[in-house]
Amino acid sequence: MLEVENLSVAYGKVNVIKSVSFELRPSLVALIGPNGSGKTTLLKAIAGMVPYSGEVLIDGINLRHIRVDRRTEYVTYVPPTISALPDMTIGDLLLSDSSADVALLERYVRIFGVERLLFRRIWEVSSGELERALLARGLARRSKVLLVDEPLSYTDVRYQLVVMRCLRRLANEGRVVVVASNQLNPLLNYVDRVLALKDGKLFINAPLKTGVDEDKLSELYGVKMKVITIDNIVDVVPLDEAKG
Ligand SMILES: Nc1ncnc2c1ncn2[C@@H]1O[C@H](COP(=O)(O)OP(=O)(O)OP(=O)(O)O)[C@@H](O)[C@H]1O
Ligand SMILES: [Mg+2]
Repeated sequence: MLEVENLSVAYGKVNVIKSVSFELRPSLVALIGPNGSGKTTLLKAIAGMVPYSGEVLIDGINLRHIRVDRRTEYVTYVPPTISALPDMTIGDLLLSDSSADVALLERYVRIFGVERLLFRRIWEVSSGELERALLARGLARRSKVLLVDEPLSYTDVRYQLVVMRCLRRLANEGRVVVVASNQLNPLLNYVDRVLALKDGKLFINAPLKTGVDEDKLSELYGVKMKVITIDNIVDVVPLDEAKG
């Protein structure tokens, strides 16, 4: 169980996350919202990577009381990419993580098709390949809470389904899995719950059925949104009203 209480984050004098509170049981949760609404910042704060006010508890334990070297037992933030690319191979990158479970790492390397990339330098792989390697590394940690940032932005459609199926399975096995994404399709087909941030405030916190609401989503993104459901597949389509 993840409890976030009155969490706020400021970069300098600018408040980016504004007193956000929610509780999540083991489940798969979409974290959506416009660019700059605070999704990445919220995930990083929960993972203790940026300073915050308020509290974050996992299974009743306040993360402020957990030593930094034990934090990965509780929470892992999986980035979509790495900004400064170190001079190492993908294999070194994966093995450099002391908190990874090696058997699990091997499994995810296989599932995400990373085997043939292990001896390549980090800058010698494509964006989607790097993203898949980072996912393999992050998911191999066995953390109780997984915070996955934009896992669908570089991956192709087949791997998008592979990634979402994996995350679904981890949630079914008892983890709290939060996926921040601007890629509403296929994200919304897999999740139990929707959280949305608008200008740093929690704007939607609802189960999928009520969370995916045309009016709410239109207000969230500032464009007209249509929800289409076919054979239990949910898709959300922005309608371009300026288009003739
Ligand atoms: N290190 C930083 N220093 C100052 N401002 C920052 C920093 N990182 C992010 N911001 C600002 O904080 C706000 C929230 O950014 P954040 O990256 O959390 O948004 P996001 O919802 O993840 O957006 P996106 O959909 O583009 O990934 C934005 O206005 C951004 O410009
Ligand atoms: Mg982001």
